[in-house]
Amino acid sequence: MKKFITATLLMTTVISAGAQNAERNIIRIATDNTDLVLEVGPNNRLYQTYLGPKLMHDSDIRNLSWNQIAGSDGSVSTRGWEAYSTSGNEDFFEPALGITHADGNMSTYLYYQNHTRSEVPGGTLTSINLKDDKYPVNVTINYVAYPKENVIKTWTEISHKEKKPITLSQYASAMLYFNEPQYWLTEFSSDWAKEAQMSSQQLQFGKKVIDTKLGSRAAMFTHPFFEVGLNGPVKENSGEVLMGTLGWTGNFRFTFEVDNAGNLRVLPGINPYASNYMLKADEVFTTPEFIFTLSYDGAGQGSRNLHDWARKYELKDGEGSRLTLLNNWENTGFNFNQDVLSKLMVEAKHLGVDMFLLDDGWFGNKYPRKNDRAGLGDWEVTHDKLPGGVAALVKAAQDADVKFGIWIEPEMVNPKSELYEKHPDWVIEQPNRETYYYRNQLVLDLSNPKVQDYVFGVVDNILTENPDVAYFKWDCNSPITNIYSPYAKDHQSQLYVDHVRGIYNVLKRIKDKYPNVPMMLCSGGGARCDYEALKYFTEFWCSDNTNPIERVFIQWGFSQFFPAKAMAAHVTSWNRNTSIKFRTDVAAMCKLGFDIGLHELSADELAYCQQAVANWKRLQPTVMDGDQYRLVSPYETNHAAIECVDKQKNSAVLFAYDLAPRYQEKLPAVKLQGLDPNKKYLVKEINLMPGSKSRFSGNDKTFTGDYLMKVGLRPFTDRHNNSTVIELTAQ
Ligand code: DGJ
Repeated sequence: MKKFITATLLMTTVISAGAQNAERNIIRIATDNTDLVLEVGPNNRLYQTYLGPKLMHDSDIRNLSWNQIAGSDGSVSTRGWEAYSTSGNEDFFEPALGITHADGNMSTYLYYQNHTRSEVPGGTLTSINLKDDKYPVNVTINYVAYPKENVIKTWTEISHKEKKPITLSQYASAMLYFNEPQYWLTEFSSDWAKEAQMSSQQLQFGKKVIDTKLGSRAAMFTHPFFEVGLNGPVKENSGEVLMGTLGWTGNFRFTFEVDNAGNLRVLPGINPYASNYMLKADEVFTTPEFIFTLSYDGAGQGSRNLHDWARKYELKDGEGSRLTLLNNWENTGFNFNQDVLSKLMVEAKHLGVDMFLLDDGWFGNKYPRKNDRAGLGDWEVTHDKLPGGVAALVKAAQDADVKFGIWIEPEMVNPKSELYEKHPDWVIEQPNRETYYYRNQLVLDLSNPKVQDYVFGVVDNILTENPDVAYFKWDCNSPITNIYSPYAKDHQSQLYVDHVRGIYNVLKRIKDKYPNVPMMLCSGGGARCDYEALKYFTEFWCSDNTNPIERVFIQWGFSQFFPAKAMAAHVTSWNRNTSIKFRTDVAAMCKLGFDIGLHELSADELAYCQQAVANWKRLQPTVMDGDQYRLVSPYETNHAAIECVDKQKNSAVLFAYDLAPRYQEKLPAVKLQGLDPNKKYLVKEINLMPGSKSRFSGNDKTFTGDYLMKVGLRPFTDRHNNSTVIELTAQ
């Protein structure tokens, strides 16, 4: 048994805690608030013995048992919570790993070999090496614990030395267990213009699966994140909640299984649907990263954990500032020319934003992109439309004193394009069936390195020819249709996985060469929103639905997992029945942009927008980098309130929205959070329409943080589609 004792400091501590531990190999993965404890059982397999609030005393770790499961007759079963359970073993519930070995045997047993610890930015990486005793199969489970943010990131590597390829039929990123009286799942369903819709249900015996099979626009119907309320429905400010998200821009699957003994196992990973993976000897199959936090104070704290973690360690330029912008998609659609765009750049400057973003419709010559039926793939400026090319656009932006950004959708092709004519074999399409289309387009086969080069070239050519292009909006409007790759030949079942890896190869090359170019991730709205993609993107487009009422819900949903600075929100003409102030105040809780013609605005409305942009820029450190508190839920009331507090607790912003209050409804006070109880804050309504006075009772008054958190403010009104933005400044 001695060989299983590790050299970690922790192990030394545990060993010295009592002679009975000397023979036990316990691996503790700890953040400041959470412990995940694993133990090598007497059979030399690895078990989860604990996941929950941090244990105060090291000595208690020895009281945890690898063998958690008592049989219904009171007998102790030999089944434990195996850390990475495999097919063919005595567990009988959903495994993490399913392998068909080269000889056809479908069982795998993993035994502990050793583990290592190393420091990585922000945390500690623990890698545990496991091995089958009958087959040369190696599995390494990795955990990075980020102590301050209370986040754990985990993924698995699978490799082997069998004589022929082995087939992976299941390959979860991780496996976690819980034993609580109840489990409540909050899921995030979606569709075009209906992203991040939250609903919850109790998990009972059996399985609940959330998965997607869309391939490229993968998160169109559901997003890669979830919450599980442990022992009750998820609440905002109390209760234990698991919040998990998978960094994978393709098909994903979350399996939640409650077993015969009432244990819940959670299996996040790539969706193995139509994706048996033939793993060659010495090839390493690395699963996507699963990122989770456990909060003991509800989802609000869990979100703040993830926001902090994302800004520091994951999101591209997570700690940098963001550019406000004027986009032209909702305003002009495909209908523009150099003159129109030059005028919009001047409008952008007039509005006070940093950048003009040119959307779809600027490319294609043989098949000009006049609508969504042609041109995708031909990334050359349409000469008739924009005779001066991108260079003239960049110059016009410089003349207007704004930056210039540009839209691309480089993974896609219209059959009506020169690219398709030249390279029909670069496209995912069935050789022997009728083709079906989504938005008249097809997906390029990114598993093919030549296609990867081409897609990299789309960005590289633009930036080589026009180094002053300051921003990209990278769109992806189609799921993978007609799944078949001419390149993959007899490896068709790897296409869903290899395609996504191909996208990452391209994105990595872009980031390596252009580390400072910000990019927006877009997928017909918010159908791409995961933390692997966000290593390469500074923000994502939450939804084409910019109706502010719907946006309050959509942003509420995404805010559970993403910091405000990762969420792009634009003021548009969706729902003209609402005021420009309301539309802007809703967008201002995220990364603010506009996508509207200034001719639509009255002089007062324009003046209001200019002031709102200036306020947003001034308050950017508080709203983008502060702690966010979701105070009043639109799901539970006819209002919503969100507060941001800077880390020093000197500045805060309260966004209060009246959605559809009932007649003479009792309006609740809004109790703030996260302030310093001993500081005094001057409270001031901002973003007022020119000439209008604040009707907010607390305006221009000073309150202590203690008062604001215990008594609160009264920003809500009985008006529909109304907003009040309040700035709090410590005196
Ligand atoms: C879908 C995006 O979500 C929109 O913002 C816009 O860029 C269009 N694509 C352009 O085709």
